[in-house]
Amino acid sequence: MTTSGDGVGSSAYAFDVERIRRDFPVLKREVNGHTLVYLDNAATSQRPVQVMAEITRFYRDSNANIHRGVHTLSVEATDQYEGVREKVRSFIGAPSASEIVFTRNTTESINLVAHAWARAFLEAGDEVVISEIEHHSNIVPWQMLRDERGIVLRHIPMLDDGTLDLDVARATIGPRTKLLAITLMSNALGTIVPVGELADLAHAHGARVLVDAAQAAPHLPIDVGELGADFLAFSAHKMLGPTGVGVLWARGELLEAMPPFLGGGDMIATVSLTESTWNEVPHKFEAGTPNVGGVIAFGTAIDYLQALDMERVRAHERELTGYALSTLARVPGVTLHGPLDPNLRGGVVSFSLEGVHPHDVGQVLDSRGVAIRAGHHCAQPVMQRLGIPATARASFYIYNTRDEVDALEEAVRETASYFGFTPGATVA
Ligand code: ALA
Repeated sequence: MTTSGDGVGSSAYAFDVERIRRDFPVLKREVNGHTLVYLDNAATSQRPVQVMAEITRFYRDSNANIHRGVHTLSVEATDQYEGVREKVRSFIGAPSASEIVFTRNTTESINLVAHAWARAFLEAGDEVVISEIEHHSNIVPWQMLRDERGIVLRHIPMLDDGTLDLDVARATIGPRTKLLAITLMSNALGTIVPVGELADLAHAHGARVLVDAAQAAPHLPIDVGELGADFLAFSAHKMLGPTGVGVLWARGELLEAMPPFLGGGDMIATVSLTESTWNEVPHKFEAGTPNVGGVIAFGTAIDYLQALDMERVRAHERELTGYALSTLARVPGVTLHGPLDPNLRGGVVSFSLEGVHPHDVGQVLDSRGVAIRAGHHCAQPVMQRLGIPATARASFYIYNTRDEVDALEEAVRETASYFGFTPGATVA
């Protein structure tokens, strides 16, 4: 791996947040007169110097298009790009690097399955089961398919604590189910879904399982075999990598059977003016010039996370999340959304502050240098279920500290007092 930073890479390395932080210069930035406290990692993570150095190295030393040239730079770029498939394979415990398809993001990966697999293999009346806590990107493609093809879209409801109603899941997943499309971790609430159990149910009925791992892959150890996934989608930018790079993993036999998604260069074996034949998997699904430099730098991001060890990443975030839940619970007027047990959630803490709109919470926090997301988090059904328009959401990553959670708590307390909040008062 590239080692222009000093945080990771030696075998003696322990999970040392202060050392990790030295790899992220943006964390030294001042925002509105305060040192930045970056708690919007569910939207996108920051990138370490190693990843930024790899982007620069690629464009400075090796930049060329891939699969197209016999010249040295093109061969180098091709080898580096293809080498990242193996890193991704190892990261998610997949059987073969040829099952890794690079896309633009999780949304494109899910749409690829909806277009190429579902349109080829699902018929009117077939059922796709999603859940109430999905991100829009795992809802809208299936609604579009329903409207176009007459499939039936069903969902597993959310309980008050932000977990899924597994009794209803057992009654919903049945012989007509052809696909369970489910998140492993909710971006709005942090809920970790027992995907393995649901996948067993789906497989017992002969259905396929698509796992939206956009939030999970950056934060939890992933093994596609243990999950029982048939498709897995995630993005590089939430896990230290560049924007514009996503992954779709699918079982090899599914990729073989699926028609292509986009047509164009690189995805073909032969083209005449009347017909074309397809390249082998996974190239059949990568039409046009991909984000070559981005994929290569994503490889460095995976190296970084692998060196930290995803079990330790999870342990760090679980500890921080537990601390944040107990800290925020003490602030008068705060309502926490989602499971209160940090074992049941990832590093996402969504909350409301009585009498204050979440956007105002976000703005006051920003004036104190604390970056969170406020809004519906592209999960409007979750907001509808909670009966609120939006939440304030703090989300953690490898470089966040207890001190930053304290800064969050203090800023939320100041927000309450800024808006003259009195606990229990009626809000117009
Ligand atoms: N899906 C991203 C989020 O949850 C953008 O913020």
